[in-house]
Amino acid sequence: MSSPQATITPPIPDHSRYIEFAGLHGKDVTEVLKSLKSLELNDQILVGFGPGLVSGLDKSITGLHGFKSLTGPGVEVPATQGDLLCWIRGDDRGEIARLSRVFIRLVASAFRPVRIINGFKYKTGLDLTGYEDGTENPTGDAADAAAFVSGAGHGLDGSSFVAVQQWLHDMDVFDKYSTDDTDDMIGRRQSDNVEFEGSPVSAHVKRTAQESFTPEAFVLRRSMPWSNADGEGLMFVAFGKSFDAYEAQMRRMTGLEDGIVDALFKFSRPISGANYWCPPVSDGRLDLSAIGI
Ligand code: HEM
Repeated sequence: MSSPQATITPPIPDHSRYIEFAGLHGKDVTEVLKSLKSLELNDQILVGFGPGLVSGLDKSITGLHGFKSLTGPGVEVPATQGDLLCWIRGDDRGEIARLSRVFIRLVASAFRPVRIINGFKYKTGLDLTGYEDGTENPTGDAADAAAFVSGAGHGLDGSSFVAVQQWLHDMDVFDKYSTDDTDDMIGRRQSDNVEFEGSPVSAHVKRTAQESFTPEAFVLRRSMPWSNADGEGLMFVAFGKSFDAYEAQMRRMTGLEDGIVDALFKFSRPISGANYWCPPVSDGRLDLSAIGI
């Protein structure tokens, strides 16, 4: 019996590391995938496969496609599609570093890391702007319905599609705004996290209000702040039973639906974007039957 990877449902941990890999040209990935299949993931390691990796095996997963770059009025959403994703979560940064080494060595004959971002929990789960992130995430059965494939058969049921997008904040710009202005940009009050009446149509929670789409566009977000020598921002991560909900939200945020760009773009912009399929697990190990491994 297959089930979702155990890293997806729990709330964000204190620390995590997102590692995205590119396939090495001409290398046979089959042996690597077999060794990945024997890796115990526990509740610490998430694995996702990019569309190129799956099509390179002459297989297909319905709904898996490359990240779509978008251009809206004055804004760009870039695609930086990778082949393999590993998200390591935990409360001990040393343990995350150790597991990263284990994983990178395991796949080294066919993949090289191209993006490594350390995420961390800020206070109770705030974005670096001080706004609570994740409030309107579905929970329980609603989270399962939003995030996991069901009714598609063995090897697919319990799998999930994840969009991973690194956002770079300009906190010098953000910090020049008054709290009233930034409350308007988000559509919630920073002081008490209440979604207030009368925020502008560009407010982020109005752009992304999950019930306002047809069909409704629910995702399970597991985003975490990041900060390093290159800057700071949010590693936005959304799990879905397909990419449809995420893509509908991103199009509206970018102004492609009605010309109105999400106010988040006043102080932040995406600098990466990639889609991955996260296979289900059996007995704590990846079930790769859907791709013939
Ligand atoms: C700079 C990047 C982002 C920041 C700082 C950010 C922050 C926030 C905050 C503070 C909230 C309100 C609390 C909550 O419900 O979580 C929120 C809600 C939400 N965000 Fe974002 N977000 C970002 C990017 C995105 C992107 C790229 C998407 C999807 C394409 C997205 C989708 C959502 C959704 C679906 C909600 C809940 C809306 C609702 O149903 O009320 N966010 N975000």
